[in-house]
Amino acid sequence: MRTLENLSCPIDSLSLSRDGNSLKCDNGHTYDLAKTGYVNLLPVQNKRSKDPGDSKAMVAARQAFLNQHFYYPIVEAVLETWPKDNLVSGVRVLDAGCGEGYYLNEINKLLLAQQTEAELTGLDISKWAVTAASKRDKSISWLVGSNASLPTPAERFDAILCLFGFPIFNEFSRALTDSGLLLLVESGANHLIELRQILYPSIHEYKSTHSEGVDGFELVSEEARNFEFTLSSQAEIQDLLSMTPHIHKASYDGKEAVKKLESINLTADIKLRWYRKKLPE
Ligand SMILES: C[S@@+](CC[C@H](N)C(=O)[O-])C[C@H]1O[C@@H](n2cnc3c(N)ncnc32)[C@H](O)[C@@H]1O
Repeated sequence: MRTLENLSCPIDSLSLSRDGNSLKCDNGHTYDLAKTGYVNLLPVQNKRSKDPGDSKAMVAARQAFLNQHFYYPIVEAVLETWPKDNLVSGVRVLDAGCGEGYYLNEINKLLLAQQTEAELTGLDISKWAVTAASKRDKSISWLVGSNASLPTPAERFDAILCLFGFPIFNEFSRALTDSGLLLLVESGANHLIELRQILYPSIHEYKSTHSEGVDGFELVSEEARNFEFTLSSQAEIQDLLSMTPHIHKASYDGKEAVKKLESINLTADIKLRWYRKKLPE
C-alpha cells in the first residue's frame, strides 16, 4: 500500500500530490519528506510554541517503556473491541496523537497476522514523536500535524484512534466517513494507583471524562480493562514517570520517594470507548 496519499495542504486545503521527495499543492506550497519518510504538515502559523507536543526526552522515555510491551494488553484490547463491521480489509485508520508509534505499529502487526490489510496514518504534533515513529514501520504514513486542523480532506478515514491523546471532536467528525468510528482510550480510576499513592499526599476523586457524551458522536461500546505489571529497575520506573503528566504535577518529595524504589507492582486501569459519527438530522 502506498503512503502519504490523499492529504491536504495545511495552508490552503488544496490536495497534495507527490513530486519526488516532496508533497506539493497547486499553489506551490511544498513539503519535503524527512529522511525517515515522514512529512511535516504543521505550518509555523499553526504552531502555538516553537517545539509543540511531547519533548525529545518524553518521547525517548515513552519509547523505552512501551518497547518493553508492558502495555501490550492495550493493543490487544483495541483489536478485540473494534466493531467488526468497521475492521475490514482496506479500512483507513488515523492514529491521532500517535506518539512514537508503538500502538499503530503493533496494531498493524496484528492486522497483518489476521490478513486485514489497512491503510494506516499516524499523526502527532511533536516532531520528535513522529521522527521516532517513522523509523518503526515504513508502510504507515507518518505526519507531523495537529488534531485541531487535520491535513486531510473530509471523510478521509473509516476509524480514528485517540489513545491518551487530545481529541478535537468537530475535526475528527469532519475527517471521518459517515459510518466512521472513533476510539478514545483513557485511564480509569485505579490507573497506576500504586505509583500515585507514593507521588501524592492524597489521591483526588476520579472524574470520568465525556460522561455526558461527546458532541457529534454516539457511544457504541465502553469497556474497562485492568491488568498488572511489574517494573523491576529504577530506570524503568523513571521512564514510566517521565511519560506521564505526574512528572510535572507531583511534588518534589513525591518524586524523591519514587527515586528510592528498586521495583514496583502496578495496576493498569484503562477505558476503551468506541463512538460512531452522528449524522445531522
Ligand atoms: C500522552 S501522549 C500519547 C501518545 C500515544 N498515543 C501513546 O499512547 O503512546 C499525547 C500525545 O499527543 C500529542 N499531542 C499533543 N497535542 C496534540 C495535537 N493538538 N495534535 C496532535 N497531537 C498532539 C503529544 O505530542 C503526545 O505525543
